[in-house]
Amino acid sequence: MPANTPTQELAGKIALVSGASKGLGQAMAVSLAAAGATVALVSRDAARLQHVRDSIASSGGAASVFTADVSLESDVQRLHGEVSSALGPVQILINNAGINIRKNLVDFSLDEWRSVLDTNLTSVFLMCRAFVPAMRGSGYGRIINLASIMSHVSLPGRSAYSSSKTALLGLGRALALELAPDSITVNAISPGPFATDMNLPLIQNPEANAQFLAGIPAGRWGNPADIGSLAVYLCSDAASFITGTDIVIDGGWCAK
Ligand SMILES: NC(=O)c1ccc[n+]([C@@H]2O[C@H](COP(=O)([O-])OP(=O)(O)OC[C@H]3O[C@@H](n4cnc5c(N)ncnc54)[C@H](OP(=O)(O)O)[C@@H]3O)[C@@H](O)[C@H]2O)c1
Repeated sequence: MPANTPTQELAGKIALVSGASKGLGQAMAVSLAAAGATVALVSRDAARLQHVRDSIASSGGAASVFTADVSLESDVQRLHGEVSSALGPVQILINNAGINIRKNLVDFSLDEWRSVLDTNLTSVFLMCRAFVPAMRGSGYGRIINLASIMSHVSLPGRSAYSSSKTALLGLGRALALELAPDSITVNAISPGPFATDMNLPLIQNPEANAQFLAGIPAGRWGNPADIGSLAVYLCSDAASFITGTDIVIDGGWCAK
């Protein structure tokens, strides 16, 4: 169990994490389970999810594996049925699945553009539309959408990614207003550069890696476990008055 995660704060809660097969999603799933939640692990890769489930189980946590492509309406509908039957209503929904295609706008095909928007933005619409109705009425609910520092600033080659992640903040604000009367909070986490597979092309390129490190005031890549601790906090009772906002966790990147 991560040393900085409050113990069993989320006991009895049912959580779903999309993109839980690796990276930040895996870290959040591990932290939520360590805090007592039963976690539905979702991605397209059953083998990787089983590995995450086994590692959570070996630490005494509870998690189940569900495969789905969250950008597809039919998959999300099937997922909703499977998770609800197996675990009951989802109370914590972490929309974390995401992709990045780094190239200049004029070089994007329409299919590439749509795949980024469908995976990063439309999936959140589909997931919230499916899981929110059963979240209502219990006096507790938490939705966290993974945005990015690219929702706040940008870089060359990030037009599709920045568009999708900036739109997530608008989606979150509107949904927060719709769900506040039900005591469901909706927030975004905007990570800066974290050392995950998504950033391998940068980390493995010595020049790009040095350039990135020079741009992070903290002087290091983020540690995925820090995102897990933040997610647990946002799901706790202590954060019940935080909604419709965005928490940037970036080692100072956006402060420059
Ligand atoms: N790492 C960073 O520095 C950083 C910074 C800002 C924001 N973020 C955001 O944080 C989130 C997680 O990033 P990460 O770095 O952990 O990425 P990652 O290591 O590349 O993992 C991405 C996850 O998303 C899942 N996924 C992608 N497309 C999917 C789809 N259509 N259906 C279901 N699952 C899908 C992948 O699962 P499968 O391949 O197994 O399906 C994987 O579990 C993303 O939304 C990303 O944009 C990351």
